[in-house]
Amino acid sequence: MPHDNHPRPATARRSANLSGTIRVPGDKSISHRSFMFGGLASGETRITGLLEGEDVLNTGKAMQAMGAAIEKVGAEWIIKGVGNGALLAPEAPLDFGNAGTGSRLTMGLVGVYDFSTTFIGDASLSRRPMARILDPLRQMGVEVKSSEGDRLPVTLRGPAVANPISYRVPMASAQVKSAVLLAGLNAPGVTTVIEPVMTRDHTEKMLAGFGAELSVETDRDGVRTIRLQGRTKLSGQTIDVPGDPSSTAFPLVAALITPGSDITISNVLMNPTRTGLILTLQEMGADIEVLDKRLAGGEDVADLRVRSSALKGVTVPAERAPSMIDEYPVLAVAAAFAEGTTLMLGLEELRVKESDRLAAVAEGLTLNGVDCTETRDSLSVRGRPDGKGLGNAAGGTVKTHLDHRVAMSFLVMGLASEHPVAVDDCTMIATSFPEFFDLMADLGADMEVEGRRTP
Ligand code: S3P
Repeated sequence: MPHDNHPRPATARRSANLSGTIRVPGDKSISHRSFMFGGLASGETRITGLLEGEDVLNTGKAMQAMGAAIEKVGAEWIIKGVGNGALLAPEAPLDFGNAGTGSRLTMGLVGVYDFSTTFIGDASLSRRPMARILDPLRQMGVEVKSSEGDRLPVTLRGPAVANPISYRVPMASAQVKSAVLLAGLNAPGVTTVIEPVMTRDHTEKMLAGFGAELSVETDRDGVRTIRLQGRTKLSGQTIDVPGDPSSTAFPLVAALITPGSDITISNVLMNPTRTGLILTLQEMGADIEVLDKRLAGGEDVADLRVRSSALKGVTVPAERAPSMIDEYPVLAVAAAFAEGTTLMLGLEELRVKESDRLAAVAEGLTLNGVDCTETRDSLSVRGRPDGKGLGNAAGGTVKTHLDHRVAMSFLVMGLASEHPVAVDDCTMIATSFPEFFDLMADLGADMEVEGRRTP
């Protein structure tokens, strides 16, 4: 657990205008699924643009431990999959590090197999609730052993033949939806997932691309019913992973709040289940130009030109949360520089992310002079457009609780605050955005790690 032992503090300072063009790394959700589905499918899968963050690489190692052959040749990852239904029992526990998506989706993928698999992770992942995955798996016949109350470490053993189930997802979670569908791949008959609120649809889209027999129906109220025929053949695909909109959020907000900035972020995934932050920032008055909208590998992609803007507070409705669930920490930072109050509703899921993000963000904002109020499921932030008085002149550091998005959000805040903003650790940024410091430095951001200017 490297992040538990050697924290590396980092600081960001008020910076001159940011400028330039950058390309953010590949989307994390699509990258995890590329390794998983490629490792499962028959034949060869070729992936370019993969996010080579620790979380995704751990998923790759898990697939190797279950029989997939994975190698990198030049810029391309080449996977030879085992064939649906033919995963091998891993010889050692699967270590997912910090990754909720990797661990939860893999629990669905292999949990229904008739052998034992043990799942472990770092301190953050070991605190996160797994009952949301384990409950439907139990209904499919999976035996669960966990001494920590449905938290990692967990050992799963599937039945001789898994039950296909019909499952209504009780919270807005793409991970739960996906875990049940992936378990359904190895159950005879039709597995049905009912999704009352639409979440990111990468699993459905990509499984269909790999040849799964899957249908999606949406009723008048927006309730989606996904039906998947189990035990069919999946075939290897060629995938070009577009840039991660959740990583894009950091340079994007940095440019908006740092006066005089004008940057372009190229090749950004614009799947509508992921663009809630852009919509919200535009409502706040952000100057974000969506350029060269195109289709790449079945996904909407565009380049974003972002110029610093006078932002004003808005109310972000609860129903928008699934389309921007990972972006609230950095939206809260944008709100700290907006005129008036920004009220964010429907945030209960933030409490079970890599940290309790609602508490971590409210605490970090307060430490850095921002007036904010946290409730059980909302956050309101009263902004200071000029950044006057923001930051921490006394050198106080934000507690990141092993949460990459908390770390990056507060480093972005420091770029436009009167005083520096420091975080207690930045090592875990490598789980999702290893190039963060280099790309921010390319744009002109003033950041340092352990007292040394980056890069
Ligand atoms: C993800 C789903 C979301 C998101 C996570 C990635 C996915 O989690 O927060 O970063 O790839 O399916 P939940 O399903 O818990 O909302």
